[in-house]
Amino acid sequence: MTAYSLLILPGDGIGPEVMAEVRKVIDWFQTNRGMQFDVSEDLVGGCAYNAHGTPLTDATMKKAQAVDAVLLGAVGGPAYDNLDFSVKPERGLLRLRKEMDLFANLRPAQCFDALADFSSLKREVVAGLDILIVRELTSGVYFGEPRGIHADDNNPDNEGGRVGINTQRYTSGEIRRVARAAFELARKRNNRVCSMEKANVMESGILWREEVQWVHDNEYPDVELTHMYADNGAMQLVRRPRQFDVIVTDNLFGDILSDAAAMLTGSLGMLPSASLGAPAANGRPKAMYEPVHGSAPDIAGQGKANPIACILSFAMALRYSWDEGQAADALERAVEKVLADGVRTADLMGPEGGTPVSTSEMGDRIVAALSAA
Ligand code: IPM
Ligand code: MG
Repeated sequence: MTAYSLLILPGDGIGPEVMAEVRKVIDWFQTNRGMQFDVSEDLVGGCAYNAHGTPLTDATMKKAQAVDAVLLGAVGGPAYDNLDFSVKPERGLLRLRKEMDLFANLRPAQCFDALADFSSLKREVVAGLDILIVRELTSGVYFGEPRGIHADDNNPDNEGGRVGINTQRYTSGEIRRVARAAFELARKRNNRVCSMEKANVMESGILWREEVQWVHDNEYPDVELTHMYADNGAMQLVRRPRQFDVIVTDNLFGDILSDAAAMLTGSLGMLPSASLGAPAANGRPKAMYEPVHGSAPDIAGQGKANPIACILSFAMALRYSWDEGQAADALERAVEKVLADGVRTADLMGPEGGTPVSTSEMGDRIVAALSAA
């Protein structure tokens, strides 16, 4: 059997700490399930800037293109706030997404029963929640041209004299391919897709709606499709989130809506994500996995971070890159078991208090639960 190749990019802030716990999980699967991983590690974000003057070197980019999967921790921090835009830590992440053409970003928002009381919404609204946001990740306003900040010449009425420009741009092909990803995923879930845009104010939104409908009518008529304006979608997400199964939306709306959905579940520290591209020659999709949370510089290096989102991101890698669904299920069950046993990192401390475990203890408990299953 050829080893599964994995590039680990821990990044900044709490990234390295949570990644250390994933390493334990990888070791467990190698020792106990006969899987072989060919793991390499490299720099991305602020740490790469410190070492090389760029948030992602060409050499690292090349490695990322060559492996089955990339697992990324988090990037950014206050030390890099004043860097030039072109070398900000986030640019490293965006370059990976763009050059690997990872157009479908899967962001599940699942409410673990043991944590339903941690949501800012009432238990009865979020208990059992299981939705999947499919965010377009390689186009739209994040990458559209023209963009920039320019002198607003010949406009004497503009106090300050400058103009900032970004462009929302989508081709029909870009919309169709992410729509297909959403419909495929819906078929494996509850067979419902809700597409969100702002067709009431944006031409790109009209095109989005028409193309998603086209893919539906021609290729997925068996899946239930609805459309919603993204602002209404935000409202419905906090009002009655369980009405949704799969949500498909563009890059910017997906960024915002997925943060809202994440909070419904009780903790941002719990949520994984997968970014998938087209299948490569070996049949595996280009893929990068990352926790939805950021680098959390305020708690970095203190052993307080919750490693669950990163561990669940690895579970998604098992499922989507290597078709190891059973292993992924086992890992997800181990996480659920540990939570049901009341093991909590600091971010999961409710009003009743208790003693939080450290990042590393949480990792150990999850590995122990894997062994006990
Ligand atoms: C995300 C993040 C990124 C984004 C940032 C860090 C560039 O917010 O993955 O949701 O805006 O896409
Ligand atoms: Mg975001």
